[in-house]
Amino acid sequence: MPDEQTGAQTMDEYIRGLPKAELHVHIEGTLEKDLMCALGERNGVTLPASCTDPDAEAAYHFDDLRAFLDLYYEGVAVLVTRQDFYDLTAAYVRRAHADGAQHVELFFDPQSHVPRGVPFGVVVEGIRGALVDAERELGVSSHLIMCFLRDQSPAGAMVTLEAARPYRHVIAGVGLDSAEAGHPPREFADVFRVAREAGFLTVAHAGEEGPAEYVTEALDLLHVARIDHGVRAADDPALVQRLARERIPLTMCPLSNQELQVTPDLAQHPLKRLLDAGVVVTANSDDPAYFGGYLAANYAAAQRALCLSRADLAALARNSITASWLPQARRVRLLHELDRYIRARS
Ligand code: HPA
Ligand code: ZN
Repeated sequence: MPDEQTGAQTMDEYIRGLPKAELHVHIEGTLEKDLMCALGERNGVTLPASCTDPDAEAAYHFDDLRAFLDLYYEGVAVLVTRQDFYDLTAAYVRRAHADGAQHVELFFDPQSHVPRGVPFGVVVEGIRGALVDAERELGVSSHLIMCFLRDQSPAGAMVTLEAARPYRHVIAGVGLDSAEAGHPPREFADVFRVAREAGFLTVAHAGEEGPAEYVTEALDLLHVARIDHGVRAADDPALVQRLARERIPLTMCPLSNQELQVTPDLAQHPLKRLLDAGVVVTANSDDPAYFGGYLAANYAAAQRALCLSRADLAALARNSITASWLPQARRVRLLHELDRYIRARS
């Protein structure tokens, strides 16, 4: 609703209306508690305690990434059938679309499903089915990125990569997620080389809990196209200059970083400093069902904590489109839509 006195858009409306892309979201991290409990019942899976505990209404609280991941991996146990993955993905894209996302690049974690007996194809086809329908119904385009769990072995990642080969046409890229500390990118150099040779684009989580050196390793040894998070890169001025010079995008996630105590005080988050240093910074939701908000809420939280201007917010949206893996024609179309949106409000 426009502000009644001035007719001006509120900041939240401005944010939601910005045409943009989401480039860092784990589909399993969009599992809202209601759907988790409903799927648990539908599949006869033992429900997580939070479904039966009347005190569980309280917001999630996490001391660190590991504490979050324990709960996250417990939650995914309710996802069993193709329809479950379809329902999960359809619900996410509806929310992203309501937040102004025109394009989404989604992570999924086969290693948290296949060992439970859920076939790789069930996961991919369920997610993909919802993405195809969402593009037709909402006009939201998408890419899928398969992540390897870095706290499991590189050999396990290689097996997962082989399982993905028949789905190469629907999986745009591979990434690296899960517990970062003590699991440096270099351990996955061979897997990423084979993935690149098979035609997958590559990204990696780095510099979330791990040091700036992990960001450098992801660039030099995994040859990634983007860094997911990259918060700790801000500790190394030479690395910041390199990211800006080489136009390597960072997919940052302010609410996640706040909730996982990476930057407990969002006012200290390096997003604005990196943006001002010329880095291609984007804002994203990571695991929105757990961290208190979807795409627009992440823009809004960063705006409030770091006093971002409308021009800063527009720069984040522009970066998200530029850093996406969209074909050139659609990328240019979305950038024009963004320009029109900004011009109409200046
Ligand atoms: N960090 C690392 N791995 C993850 C995350 C995260 O925030 N969410 C799901 N897997
Ligand atoms: Zn992530």
